[in-house]
Amino acid sequence: MSNPSEIRDVGPGLLPCRCPSGRRAVVLTALCLTPALAQSPWMDKKLSPDRRADLVIEQMTLDEKIQLVHGAGGFDQSGPRSNGGAGMIAGIPRLGLPDVQLADSAVGVRAAAARGRYSTLLPSTVAEAATWDLKLAHEYGALIGRELRDQLYNSSLGGGMDLMREPRNGRNFEYVGEDPILAGKIAAQFVRGLQEQNVIGDLKHYAFNDQETGRTIGDVKLGRRAMRETDLLAFEIAITEGQPGMVMCSYNKVNGDWACENHYLLTDLLKNTWGFKGFVISDWGATHTAAKAANAGLDNEEPGGRYFGDALKKAVESGEVPMARLDDMVHRIVRTEFAAGIIDDPPKGRVVDPFHGAQVSETIAEQGSVLLKNINRQLPLNAAALQSIAIIGSHADTSVLSGGGSAQVDPPGGGPSIFGGPVIWFPSSPLKAIQAKAPHARITFNEGADRNAAAALAKSSDLAIVFVNQPTSEGKDLSTLTLPDNQDQLVEAVARANPHTIVVLETGGPAAMPWIDRVTAAIEIWYPGIRGGEALANLLFGDVNPSAKLPMTFAKSDADLPHPRVPGMMLLPGSGGRALAPFDIDYTEGLKVGYKWFDAEDKQPLFAFGHGLSYTTFAYSALTATMGQGRSPAEVTFTVRNTGDRPGAEAAQVYAALPAAAQEPPKRLVAWEKVTLAPGESKQIRLAIEPKFLSIFNEQKNDWDLLPGSYRFLVGSSSRSTPLAVTVTH
Ligand code: BGC
Repeated sequence: MSNPSEIRDVGPGLLPCRCPSGRRAVVLTALCLTPALAQSPWMDKKLSPDRRADLVIEQMTLDEKIQLVHGAGGFDQSGPRSNGGAGMIAGIPRLGLPDVQLADSAVGVRAAAARGRYSTLLPSTVAEAATWDLKLAHEYGALIGRELRDQLYNSSLGGGMDLMREPRNGRNFEYVGEDPILAGKIAAQFVRGLQEQNVIGDLKHYAFNDQETGRTIGDVKLGRRAMRETDLLAFEIAITEGQPGMVMCSYNKVNGDWACENHYLLTDLLKNTWGFKGFVISDWGATHTAAKAANAGLDNEEPGGRYFGDALKKAVESGEVPMARLDDMVHRIVRTEFAAGIIDDPPKGRVVDPFHGAQVSETIAEQGSVLLKNINRQLPLNAAALQSIAIIGSHADTSVLSGGGSAQVDPPGGGPSIFGGPVIWFPSSPLKAIQAKAPHARITFNEGADRNAAAALAKSSDLAIVFVNQPTSEGKDLSTLTLPDNQDQLVEAVARANPHTIVVLETGGPAAMPWIDRVTAAIEIWYPGIRGGEALANLLFGDVNPSAKLPMTFAKSDADLPHPRVPGMMLLPGSGGRALAPFDIDYTEGLKVGYKWFDAEDKQPLFAFGHGLSYTTFAYSALTATMGQGRSPAEVTFTVRNTGDRPGAEAAQVYAALPAAAQEPPKRLVAWEKVTLAPGESKQIRLAIEPKFLSIFNEQKNDWDLLPGSYRFLVGSSSRSTPLAVTVTH
């Protein structure tokens, strides 16, 4: 580029842009296309992404190909071209290929503050899953895509969807629940919404990174059938329906091979069986070899080029990795860039709209907060009848909790978040939002450190609202479902002092609640995002009717879980809970993940998968079901009626019990629909059920098998409340 700071008109359809001046950091998401480059055959938008990729690859040198298959370094190690994200794949300006700027963006765009930017903190994705609302999942992804582009990123590193097999996993807040069909469908819509913003989307961490304990040394042991019907089914649905540009392979081993060099996972399944056309990117530092990983199906090493730099070049030159495989790796990356639109429509950069972000965040928090318990119509609150409210605990006077690690979003105006650093509270005040709803009530806050003082305040108030929290983060699991810092005792003391005690939970996953019988209401708001306080107040006072359902089971205690202790977790002093040596993560529960375990073992959960209350009531009737012929879907119809006195939405759930010969857990979720009904209104719901969702995975055939026999369909408001049932034969 001869005149580097010149702004060029590059012709119709292509952006004029300022070329690198060399004086300051320049982000090459938008390249300066010279007229000659703009005329290159691969810039012809009428051609398919695959054809365009082939045309540009013909022009590449071996070194350029190698450059595309690894990162340029994490964060600012990528040099002045880094946009500040977790990684960057250096582009090839002479061919019009931009830098791929990768940003962690699980629940909002990470690391904005250091660059003087702002990102919306959405409610955690576990709340997105709790909406059971595919349109909202789409909107969730769209907001992240939009804010990535605003901040000049063209690629996401979000889309966490490891199944919640281990309820104490420190990353559950950035995943989407324990059921493969719910998780798969939600993640698919998330990534579609994101990619529609012309950003490359990602799903991670493939696969079985279901716990943080020993995540870089553990070897997950599971049989093929259990794998295909649990975590891999979630990925299968999300990948085939969502068509992500990237899939990130995980740190752990799976049945003896690192996930990032596991031929079965990466090539046999992901690419050959599911037809994934995008590229596999390693988790940060999860690559262990050059030739083995490349031949197994890894396409891009991050964040650097320890294996996929010179070592891979040598392996290609020696024939250990065929040139055709390197071309395939490059093809997948470049075709994804064309398909995602990051070449034809690069991000131009814009100030993030915090108001739009706040509105989306508030809606998702309202739709994703689960009303767990509500007796004697404790909720919704009647402001006119309340003289005084005690608000207790969890900094509820000023803030709401957020999740830690690479899914951490910087607080507005805050300093850069430190990985593994302090727990970050976001400025959204439940107290102020509650005061705004009940302007005449006396509202007093007690921080909860002294439970006698908290109880005294509760006693002198009409109502007590206790906030409890469970901070979680990447890199570390919880050792127990019990809430930390004696919060159970705090709730007990307050509940003893005031018969109208409401508990608000800010957790990343399930928590034990030994006090549940002594409180009148409990609501799970997860890590509720930048408008968490306002959303909560709208729910408490009935401006919004709760409609979320748990995307996972809440156990009464650790003793009821498949693994009473997280596999590999060392409770030795000094180990920090971390596993100290390589070990097998034996997921002996196999198929019985979450509610399937509780059903099969006949254990009573604290709150069942799919549970969630409303301020209205619903009645179910008129169930019919037919099995499909051949590959056509089964069909279930039933009617839901709003039998209460206010409008509300219900996620009506269909479970199936397979024939006994299938040897499956008692039932599985196969379909649902979230329906909004006015008081007295009823609606017939007709749901198609894919044969795969009624099948078992047959290891001998290496395929799904719909067995002959009796199928019992159960319909209702949660996995433990299914008033309708019908049996049909296949
Ligand atoms: C996490 C990924 C993340 C990456 C980059 C890893 O430690 O597991 O989820 O995208 O870091 O920050």
